Amino acid sequence: MGRDKVREFHLHMADGHSVLSDGLKTATWGYNGAVLGPALRIPRGQPLRLYVHNHLDQSTTTHWHGAHVPGTMDGGPQSLILPGKTWTYGYTIDQPEATLWYHPHPAGRTGPHVYGGLAGLYLVEDGTDRRLGLPHHWGIDDIPVIVQDRLLDAQGKLVYMPQAMDVMGMKGNRFLINGRESPVLHVPAQWVRLRLLNASNARLYNFALSGDRAFYVIASDAGYLEAPVKVQRLLLAPAERAEILLDLRSLAGNTLALRSDSAAVVPGLSLHPMDSDHFDRSNFDLLEIHVGSATGSAGRLPDHLVAIPTMQADAPSRRFELRGMPMDKMSLAQRALENALHNGPAQMSMGIGRQPLFSINNQYMNMQVINQRLRLGSTEIWEVYNDAEMAHTFHVHGTSFQILSRNGKAPPAYENGWKDTLLIRRAETIRFIAHYGQPAPDDFPYMYHCHMLEHEDNGMMGQFTVS
Ligand code: C2O
Ligand code: CU
Ligand code: CU
Repeated sequence: MGRDKVREFHLHMADGHSVLSDGLKTATWGYNGAVLGPALRIPRGQPLRLYVHNHLDQSTTTHWHGAHVPGTMDGGPQSLILPGKTWTYGYTIDQPEATLWYHPHPAGRTGPHVYGGLAGLYLVEDGTDRRLGLPHHWGIDDIPVIVQDRLLDAQGKLVYMPQAMDVMGMKGNRFLINGRESPVLHVPAQWVRLRLLNASNARLYNFALSGDRAFYVIASDAGYLEAPVKVQRLLLAPAERAEILLDLRSLAGNTLALRSDSAAVVPGLSLHPMDSDHFDRSNFDLLEIHVGSATGSAGRLPDHLVAIPTMQADAPSRRFELRGMPMDKMSLAQRALENALHNGPAQMSMGIGRQPLFSINNQYMNMQVINQRLRLGSTEIWEVYNDAEMAHTFHVHGTSFQILSRNGKAPPAYENGWKDTLLIRRAETIRFIAHYGQPAPDDFPYMYHCHMLEHEDNGMMGQFTVS
């Protein structure tokens, strides 16, 4: 196949029924299936055409999270796909190999739409994993691990934002891996690569292996690290990804568990004890891993991965301050529910006639307002300060960034690579640098926002142009 031949993808958003948990049938939404979507293999440098068909009964969008695409192709809130319609995206990806993802992004309803089941992996590929000898046999030693939590009623119906929900956003008590509760993973006794995506609306996971076994982080959100980082714990906030390597070479016949050691970190992220639930205060298993015998074609753990360039800012830096409004839990649940039930896109713009709950620079998301204007081709440092009483996340569209500092100190080694989403604790100041090489005009601006989806849907988002 020629390099400039257009590669086509078709995604059909539709409703269906899935078995998320044994013995229960759940109405869900998915791309090309009842829940989640196919992992798209995106060849770097080849022209692409992606057709996204909306067979749902309400309008939505599909955003390529982490992809360097122009604002017109970004699938943000402006790019609404009406029921029965198709949106066609045409672009070419030129960024390092990475595990990105895609999901809906309609104003005020991203939470319920992702919660309903719409999300999938978007794998940018340029041959780096093969060149490095990393495990790359999909489903054998290269395994997607999409982690989500859900709340189901006795009949198996998805419950979204009941009134007792805490202000962190929607959290469930069942943990799905690739759309299924408590799956068992069979892998060979060799190096195995897991591609972790926290696709939960609001929950953090502090990933660990049973027996405190160490593992190696080889990639952050948007690309490989310079060298593998050996850890025993890895905290991922909503929308963050990491690729990790497990050394299973001497473990044939054994079983281990991928778990979350939430008790160690999550309660400290908010001033209010009620912002954590039972699972935030405990450790629990996510995935059972059965190790079989080795296959012939094993990957390895290289000492060195890739070179990451150092960037130099050529524009003044910008500051962003995150704030939450004092409020009771009820109001967030009620607003989220109202948002979920709204069909008309017109009523969804925030900050008009309603009181939003979370702000950035004391501004609430408003589709009529461009909050920041950047010069095309610029490299900027952004400083984000969390003045809220709880942790938030910060995600930027259209680029990848490097974290320069957390409260003046270097970030942990596993964050020393390309990122597009970060966790920011209360009273923390984070500086990061990014290049803005794709255009985003006034009518199709990029977003920056908290990726705790109920925060994003309730005002904690802003728009920026690049021109
Ligand atoms: Cu993952 Cu603005 O989104
Ligand atoms: Cu995004
Ligand atoms: Cu938030």
